[in-house]
Amino acid sequence: MRDFIAGLPKAELHLHIEGTLEPELMFSLAQRNNIKLPYESVEDIRRAYEFSDLQSFLDIYYQGAAVLVNERDFHDLTFAYFEKLQRQNVRHVEMFFDPQTHTGRGIEFDTVIKGIQSALDEAQQRFGISSVLIMCFLRHLSAEAAMETLAQATPFRHLIDGVGLDSGELGNPPEKFIEVFTRAHEQGYHCVAHAGEEGPAEYIWQALKQLKVERIDHGVRCDEDPALVSYLREERIPLTVCPLSNTALKVYSNMAEHNIVKLLDEGLLVNINSDDPAYFGGHLNDNYLAVQRAFNLDEAVLVQLARHSFEGSFLRDSEKRIHLKEIDDYLQRLSAPPLDN
Ligand code: ADE
Ligand code: ZN
Repeated sequence: MRDFIAGLPKAELHLHIEGTLEPELMFSLAQRNNIKLPYESVEDIRRAYEFSDLQSFLDIYYQGAAVLVNERDFHDLTFAYFEKLQRQNVRHVEMFFDPQTHTGRGIEFDTVIKGIQSALDEAQQRFGISSVLIMCFLRHLSAEAAMETLAQATPFRHLIDGVGLDSGELGNPPEKFIEVFTRAHEQGYHCVAHAGEEGPAEYIWQALKQLKVERIDHGVRCDEDPALVSYLREERIPLTVCPLSNTALKVYSNMAEHNIVKLLDEGLLVNINSDDPAYFGGHLNDNYLAVQRAFNLDEAVLVQLARHSFEGSFLRDSEKRIHLKEIDDYLQRLSAPPLDN
């Protein structure tokens, strides 16, 4: 199964670039930029990654991001992630970045985006992996700050495909950001939002109806509202589910408790993602494998999840068809008898 998953063409639709910062790179960037970390060693950092909920993770995650200062740092972080992707047969990525995490520390918006973008270009050239960028607003900050961030993005509009909403969910409902999402729609951005990770099903409704998002990030708490599950099924709204993140942040006490297979069985367009792989103990294929093992899934279900990853993406229909055909070709190669020459 590990090999089957490794060879399966797939897309990643829920990935925070700041969440790919491995302790080794955190340490070396801290040295490069003369930043004192509150840790003595890489092992020390890893030991701190014991989370009780979303906020306990976010505190450490924002602290770690402080080692990112120069354009080169953002480039190196992003390129290191693509080097990992290339070995997992990930063909397309829709990547979140959190400008406010950096502009709030005095880093220029253009430093962040130029560093990330140069790595995306290099990954496309060297590995043939396509990508799009989604700019997230930090929901624990004000709606005015989100609006200011949207304005800062204007000179880089051609590099940013979508906007999203992340950070501490409880107490920061989607409705707080109606105006900025309305403006983003007017400017032609794709719109997505984290909802129903720790927050209630009502936040998913708000994201859909008030922010008019086309995709929900996480969304696992939809199962508390049968009418919402029916709506998600009928409207074919993708849910970007992150299994290892959910168990690391105690949304579920263990993988066997996770509802991803139940949601899939209910006909929802769920797919698998890694969220913040450096913090949650695994990249994309580790997430597929963890779910496969917990539910003893067969290849057909894994294929369905991989198909959903392309179907739920921002890719054009013609591009989706090419990737879905890659999956079919992969299955055909596996089932064909070996050539004896
Ligand atoms: N930022 C990074 N990872 C996140 C998550 N899982 N939920 C909300 N905000 C995040
Ligand atoms: Zn996330």
